[in-house]
This record gives sequence, structure tokens and C-alpha cells, in this order.
Amino acid sequence: MPHQTDTSADASAHDLTKPAASWSGRRHLLDTKDLTIEEVKYLVESAKKYKALRATRKPLPAVAGSHILANLFYENSTRTRSSFELAGKALGMTVLNLDIGSSSVAKGETIEDTARTLLAMGVDIIVQRHSTSGSAGLIAEKFGKRLHVVNAGDGTNAHPTQGLLDLFTMFSVEPNLKGKKVAIVGDVTYSRVARSDIWLLQKFGADIHVVGPPSLIPDNLKDQGITIHHNIEDALNKADFIIALRLQLERQKAGLIASFEEYSQLYRLDHKRIAGAKPNVKVLHPGPINRGIEITDELADDLSVSLIDEQVSNGVAIRMAVLDAIAISE
Ligand code: CP
Repeated sequence: MPHQTDTSADASAHDLTKPAASWSGRRHLLDTKDLTIEEVKYLVESAKKYKALRATRKPLPAVAGSHILANLFYENSTRTRSSFELAGKALGMTVLNLDIGSSSVAKGETIEDTARTLLAMGVDIIVQRHSTSGSAGLIAEKFGKRLHVVNAGDGTNAHPTQGLLDLFTMFSVEPNLKGKKVAIVGDVTYSRVARSDIWLLQKFGADIHVVGPPSLIPDNLKDQGITIHHNIEDALNKADFIIALRLQLERQKAGLIASFEEYSQLYRLDHKRIAGAKPNVKVLHPGPINRGIEITDELADDLSVSLIDEQVSNGVAIRMAVLDAIAISE
């Protein structure tokens, strides 16, 4: 990741009270890296609108009655898959959840052939999660003129809707992130969430600090203007937001942490540990949580500090905003 500099001459360009007026026409969402500030502001404003509409519990007008969305999750998911299904249905889409385990993938069908097959059935939007970095981009490259592709997580590369919902959640607490200290704790090396968060936070001028064992923090982050720590108290000192990451055990090489006991002793978030942060600090975690290892139950469930439930709730609204932008308002 090259250093993302703030090229905006006008600092107020980051201010959410000045929303972007219209969508850029982008057809796919593959990464947060290439989104412009205007596009991000548009999505956040749109998510705000959808969140308020959902809160009324009234059915929305079916704006997307003719769209068919296929959820292709080659890796497990609770939050992302469910919220894309809820988002698509709330917008009036037909939603197909392909059960990968019982699909022809088991007979050797490639991800390209699965996408081609669904395209032939009239699918308009593919939401794809896969363990291979770049796999969503591959589908967009091959079929992107005829369908829309949303990356729901590709290997260690990107998880753009998680990044957007994290940003949306932080904006609901603090509408101007310029200069705000955001500490990202844990397995940064293998986290696509960390990468997607970092691209967005840099666009909005946050002061980013990462902390974890040396084996889980890429050294080159320094070149991107990010402060690296290995001592958690230093990283959390005066932080405005703390993002705890999940240990990506399915992606890590063996032996990167000595033991869960040692990891939790050094890096687990608890009330005592966050005492050095700002008094109104907020804690986020993308989920699923390894409770007791990355964060204590008491902190994760303390709604005066934890935004974890709010993140999940905001996930539906942000995914409605993304589907609307790329596929409906085209
Ligand atoms: N945060 C996240 O991607 O959660 P799921 O794996 O449950 O979708």
C-alpha cells in the first residue's frame, strides 16, 4: 500500500456536513483504496438515509424490483452475508444465496464458470467472498460489463463494505476524523479489514496507530505514515477510537503468536487497558470475536464504550447504500 496523502486543498472537503451530490457511476466495489472522498461521502449519506428508513420498520418502496443479487460466499460469514441478503431484499431485489458446499464447486467448477452460469440465469449483481486475494477483481474484469461485482472479502486484500461500515459508525460519533487518533490492535498482517479501514481513515485525515506482536504488524506501514507500536499502552494512549481485530487463524502461518494466553496478556482489550485513552473513547471490532482473547466480555458488551452492535446494525444500511449506488442509480 503506497502512502495515501491528503490531496484535498480544502480541509472542509472531509466534513460530512457537506455531502457529495451524486454517485460517480462506478459499477463495482472491489476495494476502498480507489474510492474518492466524494464517493465515500455519498455512500455514508445514503447509508444514513437508509438507516433512518429501516428504523421506521415500514416496507421501503421496491426500487430495485428487477435486480437479482447472488451471494457467493466461498468462506464462512454471519454478518456480511446476512446483511447483504437483508439489504438486497429491503431494496426489493431477488436474492439468491448459493450454497457453495452443495454447489458444483465440489465437482471442480471454477469461480469464473460459477459467475458465468449465474450471469446466464439473469443475475445482475454478484457479492463474492473468497480466500484468494484479487478474486472479486477477476470476476469484475471478466464479466464486469454485464454484471456488478461487490467484494465481500478477498483473502488478505480487502473487505470494502466492512471498511465503509466502520467509517460510517465512527462518523456517527465524530463527524470530523481529521487528527483523531485511531488505534488498530492485533493481526494487521492478515486482516483485510485493517487494510480497508486504513485506506478510508487516511482519506479522512485520521492519525493511525497500529499495535501487535512484530509477527503480525507489517513493517512497511511506517512508509505510509502509520505509527507502529508493539506496546499496547503506548498505542492506546489518548486514542479516540480503538479497533480490535480478529486473529485470522485460518490465514496465519503457524507459530506467529506464542500462545493465546501470551497474546491476551499483551494485547487483549479490557477496561483497565483502555483507561489511558480519551475519556469518551469508543471500541470497535469487525467480528466474529474471539472473546477473552482479543477483548473481554465486559468491554465488548459495555454499550457505553463498545460500538460492536452498532457496527453490525450499520452493516445493513451501508450495504443498501452500496447496492443502490452501483446497481440502481446507474
Ligand atoms: N466482519 C465480518 O466480515 O464478519 P463475517 O465473517 O461474519 O461476515
